[in-house]
Amino acid sequence: MKTCCVTILASLAALASVAADRSAWFQEARFGMFIHWGIYSIPARGEWTYASDSWKAGEYEAFAKVFNPTNYNPREWAKLAKRAGMKYAVLTSRHHDGFCMFDSHFTDYKITNTPYGRDIVREFVEAFRAEGLKVGFYHSLPDWTHPGYSDPETPAVMQGRPVHKSTPEEYAAFKELVANHVRQLMTEYGKIDLLFLDYTSKYKQDGDYFDRERLLKIAYENQPGIIVNDRLSFWKDNVRDFDYYTPEICVPSKPIRVKGREVPWETCATINGNWGYCAEDNNWKTPEALVAGLVGCVSRDGNLLLNVGPMSDGKIPAPAVERLNALGDWYAANGESIFGCGKSKFTPPFGCAYTQKGNTLYCHFLQQPLGDVILPGLKGRVAKATLLRTGETVNCIDQWGFELLEKDDQRIRPKGIVPGDVKQNKRKKVVGQSKCNYNHFPPTTQPRPNRPCPVLSTIHPSVQPRLNHPSCRGEG
Ligand code: GLC
Repeated sequence: MKTCCVTILASLAALASVAADRSAWFQEARFGMFIHWGIYSIPARGEWTYASDSWKAGEYEAFAKVFNPTNYNPREWAKLAKRAGMKYAVLTSRHHDGFCMFDSHFTDYKITNTPYGRDIVREFVEAFRAEGLKVGFYHSLPDWTHPGYSDPETPAVMQGRPVHKSTPEEYAAFKELVANHVRQLMTEYGKIDLLFLDYTSKYKQDGDYFDRERLLKIAYENQPGIIVNDRLSFWKDNVRDFDYYTPEICVPSKPIRVKGREVPWETCATINGNWGYCAEDNNWKTPEALVAGLVGCVSRDGNLLLNVGPMSDGKIPAPAVERLNALGDWYAANGESIFGCGKSKFTPPFGCAYTQKGNTLYCHFLQQPLGDVILPGLKGRVAKATLLRTGETVNCIDQWGFELLEKDDQRIRPKGIVPGDVKQNKRKKVVGQSKCNYNHFPPTTQPRPNRPCPVLSTIHPSVQPRLNHPSCRGEG
């Protein structure tokens, strides 16, 4: 018994020390909005179109002369993000095409020289801050339009054109431009919470192509509280530590470790198949998949940065809005299982994922269970189980089926999730139980096209587990 109590207290202590860290807010937040937006939203073929499609000289750049997103309403975006449960947002200040969405002092290829004329980045930070969200910038290290930058992932190579070989002066000017832009972003837009620098390609994995330490110094000196991601280096183990690490469009198998220690991390993911707006991409992920992805990240101590690619008129595409609203409905009922939560030591049941906060364990049903649900290792340790979205009690089943279970398996019967509950509940005369609705999925738990499956229950493992519990023996 003692050892189990110690285990729980120890994990609380670990959480407390994280709170002292600069990235504490980030690890608590767990969910953010990524926004890929630029003049590439006009041709509407994603943000790599400048490299992956053939453009006549000047043709792509001319989009800057007509870019006029008069429907841009960042306050609406911020409200949408907030309602979805997102606590921070990251906007592309510049992508690889070199076009600046802010009023750069160092290039004319920028938003204030478009018919729109206003600084989109400034409007973004002001609107999102006003809604109480933290703000960050994605800033591309590569600049495909600069003669000082080229590698096999630049447009010339991809389109089979001759590659310009940078002179040392051009390369120096390129590095200077990146540093100047980072300095401007770090000094002229108030408090910036996060900087996502993207990326060091495999062709630049050796050496320090972008002047890593200089850029980090600029960021930290001007924004002492900021966190900066890991993409200033290709390999993570042989260079300095970064504040957080950024896998892409996947749920890692475990909490991420660098140099042997667990680190803060965030998976960024598309909501369809593209980052930048792509008119032909209707490959929208289901709300269920998005919820499962979010839960998967949190269950491994990570964050999800879910992307939207606004259109050239300034609107977020309707299917993305629909999904964010569905996530908002889900979050309103289930958000406590995400915010401030992290991994659990317990093994989740079949088809489920666990998140945990203190001694409250959240069991997320990623699919409708076949029937009763078997919780490994929790026999006798569940003080109380409830369905999170309704607060209804979930019964532990101790008199049936245990003969074929592991000794430490706990069987539960989540009401409203399990077909056939009417019979069981009638027989057991469960107080307050309505006699219908329990033999099928009630409407709110149906996996419907535009509704994430909000099937979730909380399980509170007892802090006083039984002495004879097998998993308590010999621990610690
Ligand atoms: C990659 C892509 C880029 C996208 C980013 C998001 O670096 O080059 O287009 O912005 O991933 O993480």
